[in-house]
Amino acid sequence: MHELRHVTSINDLTVDEIETIFSVAGDYLRNLRDPNLPHRIGRSVTDASGAILATLFYEPSTRTRLSFETAMIRLGGKSISSADPATSSAAKGESLADTVRVASNYADMLVIRHPRDGAAKLASCYASVPVVNAGDGAHEHPTQTLCDLFTLRQEGKNLKHMNVAISGDLKGSRTIHSFVYALARFGANIMLMPAKGMEMPEHVHWRLRNELNCFAVPRARYEKDNASVDALYMTADRPHQLSLISDAEIKPRKNIDAMYVTRFQKERWAGKPQEYPTIDQRFLKDKKFSRTSLLHPLPRVGELDIALDTDRRAAYFRQAAYGVPIRMALISMLLGFAREKRLQKFAGGFMPEKYEVYVGSEPGVLACVNENCIVHDAMEGKYAPQRFQLVAPHRLRCFYCESDIAEFVVANRKTRHFSIDAEMPRNERDVVFFASPETAMAAGYSAAKRRRKAANA
Ligand code: NCD
Repeated sequence: MHELRHVTSINDLTVDEIETIFSVAGDYLRNLRDPNLPHRIGRSVTDASGAILATLFYEPSTRTRLSFETAMIRLGGKSISSADPATSSAAKGESLADTVRVASNYADMLVIRHPRDGAAKLASCYASVPVVNAGDGAHEHPTQTLCDLFTLRQEGKNLKHMNVAISGDLKGSRTIHSFVYALARFGANIMLMPAKGMEMPEHVHWRLRNELNCFAVPRARYEKDNASVDALYMTADRPHQLSLISDAEIKPRKNIDAMYVTRFQKERWAGKPQEYPTIDQRFLKDKKFSRTSLLHPLPRVGELDIALDTDRRAAYFRQAAYGVPIRMALISMLLGFAREKRLQKFAGGFMPEKYEVYVGSEPGVLACVNENCIVHDAMEGKYAPQRFQLVAPHRLRCFYCESDIAEFVVANRKTRHFSIDAEMPRNERDVVFFASPETAMAAGYSAAKRRRKAANA
């Protein structure tokens, strides 16, 4: 039987698979534009009739939901939708886990948007059909990234070595998190221009540097030309090459190939920003922006001047339009309509190594540090046992929202000892994590003797 594939993160897809999605989407786009074709659907679709897509949206949406539904209809299938939690059983207190278990019997694929980080991952644990993340809290929005990269390709950009500037709410924007991972994997350079106090989360930085072969250029090397850039990442061609690059060789090109603008994510913040960057003609008058493609996932609410709409650099409405062929490609590949292009068994994506997943079952053990993680939802959390991946000796990653925890102690259920050196018990089942030595001791664990090497150091 074909193994179930979910897309909860852009990192669930390999670069080759993303390239195939672009090629299938390119075919659909040509067909959508061909007025001679009946129904304007792709010739390569053999039979999508009878297939049903369910969109389960717990947060507002226009483009994402409508383009997913349009995509399925264009493919010859049908779509059903629960677009307002106030009118679904969520209002009666039904959990996401139960909803997806039920909806798996109605539809062939579930597309989920939710205000909590990690909700799509939780849903994928309970669904028996493919789950696609259409935006979960501030975590990720992988299909938006597919549209973003596809747009850049259509605008004639070569993703490799391209300079991409990203402005706005880099903390609250899930679109940005998926986007930077993909840019790094395609070899682009990334310039971060956050609004004050809305810098990209530390764990996303860590991932760029430690898993995605990105090199953080020292500030002194770019600050003179780009005072508003908070961090500049260059991507090396090959793993491990970074250490070989001398400072003198780091010469980021000045031209900006793409500028990605995002709105203030007001639903994820308590207050209002005092200042927020606005992109307009004046901002873009510098020569380095002369060939820049302007992107925005939309909706915009003032941070992107409407006077730019007629500017040849504005690509954001085309970007929204590509949502249909891109999602047609993803649906047909997930469901196997594009037969020879079906997404195969998940081969581990891009991850440099396969991380072990540790499941916490004891009460009082370590909890995800992200307060908006699905595990902290009073109802949904009951369906989400604490799960972590050990991604480095002193770094745990939440299985659901992928936030990292750098401070914790590892304890051994069998010996009842804990170690602050993050020494892992040999048997996975014996592993238990605590937030601090104090919480471990409160749970009846005692400090293990330190390793001789560490003690002598
Ligand atoms: C984005 C989202 O929902 O994260 N919108 C979209 O899907 N096109 C961006 C946003 O809401 O700002």
